[in-house]
Amino acid sequence: MLDLSLEVLRVVEDAAIASARTMGMGDPHTSDQAAVEAMRRCLDTIPIEGTIVIGEGERDEAPMLFIGEKVGAANSDATISVDIAVDPLEGTNLCSTGGAGAITVLAASEHGGLLHAPDCYMEKIIVGPAAKGAVDLEAPVKQNLKAIARRLQRGVDDLVVVVLDRPRHQKLIGEIRDAGARIRLISDGDLSAGIAAAVAGTNVHAVMGSGGAPEGVLTAVALRCLNGEILARLVIKDDAQKERMQAMGIRDVTRIYNTTELAPGRNLVFAACGVTDGNLLRGVRYSSDGIHTEAVVMTSHPARVRFIETTHLENRPDVKVRFR
Ligand code: FBP
Repeated sequence: MLDLSLEVLRVVEDAAIASARTMGMGDPHTSDQAAVEAMRRCLDTIPIEGTIVIGEGERDEAPMLFIGEKVGAANSDATISVDIAVDPLEGTNLCSTGGAGAITVLAASEHGGLLHAPDCYMEKIIVGPAAKGAVDLEAPVKQNLKAIARRLQRGVDDLVVVVLDRPRHQKLIGEIRDAGARIRLISDGDLSAGIAAAVAGTNVHAVMGSGGAPEGVLTAVALRCLNGEILARLVIKDDAQKERMQAMGIRDVTRIYNTTELAPGRNLVFAACGVTDGNLLRGVRYSSDGIHTEAVVMTSHPARVRFIETTHLENRPDVKVRFR
């Protein structure tokens, strides 16, 4: 597949620049809308035949970037057909409050390379390359933490586990505490936490608990590129949701998915750009010297992870570029 790295970089950067303008406005919907519109606009400049497989929801609930929507430059000689998963603004509340860690995210693959995850919760355990193959979603929390600690050659009490701060995680949090590991509770953003777990030096050793299923698939794309691991199972709320999942082609709704099953594509590309300052990526900075963004772009074939700082000169001839 054509290397789309620079194209998807532009998409997440544009979405970040647009949504970061709404930082702290206290209106998550406006923040999300800004990211969605910028992403949509930019996607339509790329010569691809793109189909949104994970997006803002079904056509009737999302005016743009809805599941099934076609994107890409019309009238171009596009010959490549790609499936696209987007989370235009991961951490809408974080952006609207100026909290840390809001990012814009897009992943793409050849057709069929991304699980069409329904918009429900997903139970997840996420670890980095060292602990790959050592965890089991069905094992007791203590056993998983011991296994991660062994692989990382440290004690369980040295581990940092990220968990979404939600009432549904009370039991899990108790079990992690009983096992002796440290916990970082986050208000939002288990996708960026999942990426951090697979990057050495972030002081995140695992992510546990349930979060969005779409975020789970996007995390899996990043982890395929970073050689990390996610194990996940859909959380079924009621019979109606179970039937909907089956209608979407998910026959066994209790199945545990691994990283490759969530993102089976051979040619995967993942891009994220910081909106507000976070662990891995700094947020957007607007200055008299242009707009500065930090993004990460990863591809599975060839296996590349690129951290990219960009100065957007915005057509101003007087702009000076600073060497840091
Ligand atoms: P949004 O940015 O779409 O609001 O998602 C933020 C998030 O925290 C995700 O990172 C996480 O997977 C999901 O929401 C958790 O859902 P909930 O807030 O319902 O627990």
